Amino acid sequence: MTAISISKYSYSSILNEAAKIAWRVQDLIGEDKRLDFSKPFLPETIAHTQAISCLSPNEQLILNHIRGNSYLHLFGLVEEFILPLVVNHVQFIGCENIEATQAYLCFAKEESKHIHLFRQFASAFAAGFGFRCGAIGPPRAIADFVLQHSPLGVALVTLHIEWMTQRHFLDSVRCYQQEPIDPLFYNLLKHHWQEESQHARLDTLMVQDLAQKLNSSAIEAAIDDYIGIVQYLNEGLKAQVQLDIASLEMPVARTLTAAEREEIRQVQEFSYRKAFLVSGMTHPNFVQTVQQLSPTRYARIAAIANSFSSRDG
Ligand SMILES: [Fe+2]
Ligand SMILES: [Fe+2]
Repeated sequence: MTAISISKYSYSSILNEAAKIAWRVQDLIGEDKRLDFSKPFLPETIAHTQAISCLSPNEQLILNHIRGNSYLHLFGLVEEFILPLVVNHVQFIGCENIEATQAYLCFAKEESKHIHLFRQFASAFAAGFGFRCGAIGPPRAIADFVLQHSPLGVALVTLHIEWMTQRHFLDSVRCYQQEPIDPLFYNLLKHHWQEESQHARLDTLMVQDLAQKLNSSAIEAAIDDYIGIVQYLNEGLKAQVQLDIASLEMPVARTLTAAEREEIRQVQEFSYRKAFLVSGMTHPNFVQTVQQLSPTRYARIAAIANSFSSRDG
């Protein structure tokens, strides 16, 4: 048993906040709500396509759309291991604190809605883009790999993802002033952000609850699990970059030279690491939670985040 100081978050206030947010998948996509391919889908701070000098502005826009599609795919994919983590946690805690049980059930319900949301957007993308885009997977195999690790290790990955989602929407708001992204994609980021805000706080409570029942060596082993999963995801992101480059050649109707492919690879590997790994590993609320568990192990995470932040990470 490890003494962990419990955060200011409470299950009752999280339930109250969650009750104020009500949206359905069909409110955001479908029927008359179509993606506008004349606009970027992701803010430049997430996609980094304008930094690629070998692509014309139109080709940069097409790559932004390909990144929009992979964003949908990657979020759908991570939600597939977050959902079982939360469902298992509900079984683990039982009904002793019924507000906690209720809050985690709400969390699970929302994550299943998000899987549906990302799939509907992916279908709309496939219908409008006109070319097939490759994506890593299958999601089930990736979820099976992640879920082999300790619940605390997986909960830390989830905490990272929840706080990262907060940053993604705030980035899009910042960019929106200069370069409007597609309104449907903006809405997707906004509505996901609203519910993930409750998840991030619930995950903080889940991490603290799980850690309290472990000794310090088990906690350090769980942080090592987190690091192992992050490194596995980094390899997945590199594979996704290669698929994105292959997906780009058909819609731009030209064969990219080896030098062009190399420039795109370098910029995009940096971009994926920054958007999906560094933004979670360095989020102040994530840092605070992990430092509370083990300052020395967080130092290891900070060193990896630092290496991921360099262009050739
Ligand atoms: Fe989600
Ligand atoms: Fe979530």
